[in-house]
Amino acid sequence: MNRLQKANDYIQNNKAKTTNRPYFHFSPGIGWMNDPNGFSFYKGKYHLFYQYYPYDIVWNDMHWGHAVTEDFVTWEYLPVALANDKAYDANGCFSGSAIEKDGNLYLMYTGHIDPNLGFDRDEREVAERQCIAFSEDGVTFKKYEQNPVIGEKQLPEGYLICDFRDPKVLEVDGVYYCVLAVRNAERRGEIIMFQSTNLLDWTFHSSIYEAKFEDNLLLECPDLIRIDDKDVLLFSEMPCDPEYQEVVQNTTAYVIGEMDFKKGIFTPEKKGLLDYGQTFYAPQSTEGKDHERLLIGWMHRWHQTTPPKEYGFNGMMSLPRKLTIQNGKLMQQAAINHEFYFKQTVSLENKVLQNAAFDIEGEGTGYLKLNFSPSRGKNFTIELHKSAESSTRIHVDAENNRIFYESDYGNQGIITINDCFRDDENTLEFYVDLHSVELFINGGEKVATFTAYDQGKGKTVSISAEDKIELTHIYFEEFCL
Ligand code: FRU
Repeated sequence: MNRLQKANDYIQNNKAKTTNRPYFHFSPGIGWMNDPNGFSFYKGKYHLFYQYYPYDIVWNDMHWGHAVTEDFVTWEYLPVALANDKAYDANGCFSGSAIEKDGNLYLMYTGHIDPNLGFDRDEREVAERQCIAFSEDGVTFKKYEQNPVIGEKQLPEGYLICDFRDPKVLEVDGVYYCVLAVRNAERRGEIIMFQSTNLLDWTFHSSIYEAKFEDNLLLECPDLIRIDDKDVLLFSEMPCDPEYQEVVQNTTAYVIGEMDFKKGIFTPEKKGLLDYGQTFYAPQSTEGKDHERLLIGWMHRWHQTTPPKEYGFNGMMSLPRKLTIQNGKLMQQAAINHEFYFKQTVSLENKVLQNAAFDIEGEGTGYLKLNFSPSRGKNFTIELHKSAESSTRIHVDAENNRIFYESDYGNQGIITINDCFRDDENTLEFYVDLHSVELFINGGEKVATFTAYDQGKGKTVSISAEDKIELTHIYFEEFCL
């Protein structure tokens, strides 16, 4: 039986065994999932592909899983789109993107070859080359017969083919470009660009971004987008070599700048973090149905507590985030429809707390919005997933302009987010699901994602303060499908 058929049969026969799925975040029907791939709006639906290994809850031979949605809450799983069934992708169909051309959906992905299966990496034997697959219906994909389309022949000397991956395709004025992450001769990460007129024949265009040598970073999953009159380069950062594992943390970054496509030059202006938690990685964007820019990321951190085996799945996607630039700042707002699945249970204005807690009982999953002004009290605590013994605590310390996160669930330690607040009105928005909390500060100036798969979390949402505080607004909507 071929590998695609085998994967799809396995999923059909075993998916009923998964438990504890999140309520309103995408997760795989069964098995392991990492990066979002091929995120696109095609023939009236959002398509999301993802790095996928259906047979276990750990990373292994990468397939491309596939699902579609119209509202980002309810999803339809489609058959696995790609399996690693060719000599050029024998050890995995790694991350990539999708683009529509002449009514067909094209996928561009990395064919990964590693005879040691990633366990005992010998760089000289690893190769990553770029491949194409296409589909007329957005369901069944055929790999291009002349794959790979970018390999040693097109990659200029000095770059290492062992870390050359994650093509993101875009079209500008009738020309196709793709940005790719690569390891350079100094063993650091760089983002390079290729160009094509037909998506099949590619030539090297230029290098557009280089990680600083002293930052010891390898880059992954680049994305280049236009928002209003700015260009924004997104990428994920990881330690460039094992000896930096303890000092360099995986994270996701954006750089606002100007891209001159003709010359192939990106002029960076301002760099920032896409997420201040530690569980948001490998995000990818697409143009939405109203031409807005939507970003979705993998909610994960390597070495975090994995789900209990009986869940049968591992991996969740963030909510999609709408990206805009306001006053030179990149803003991210959750792009999820509240109309059908969230029911308001609390809306209280000018609530005073002093040595007291305000508790919201129910299922404890949904949307919480708080407004406060530091002139009416500076310190308070939000507890989520609270039971008699345990909770996740977000301490607002407006006195020192920061937030602390700590939790009895997961193993993330204390996370501090600095420079959070304004002197006047501030907004904190939380999306709380079974295994995740996403926090949007002041309309998405800063965002932080936290995940923990522990079983038996509490269901109370509690807001408390020791010193007197008056919250301008407490608003809660419970999730109900
Ligand atoms: C990012 C990443 C990508 C790669 C994929 C493999 O998480 O390492 O660079 O294509 O995962 O699954």
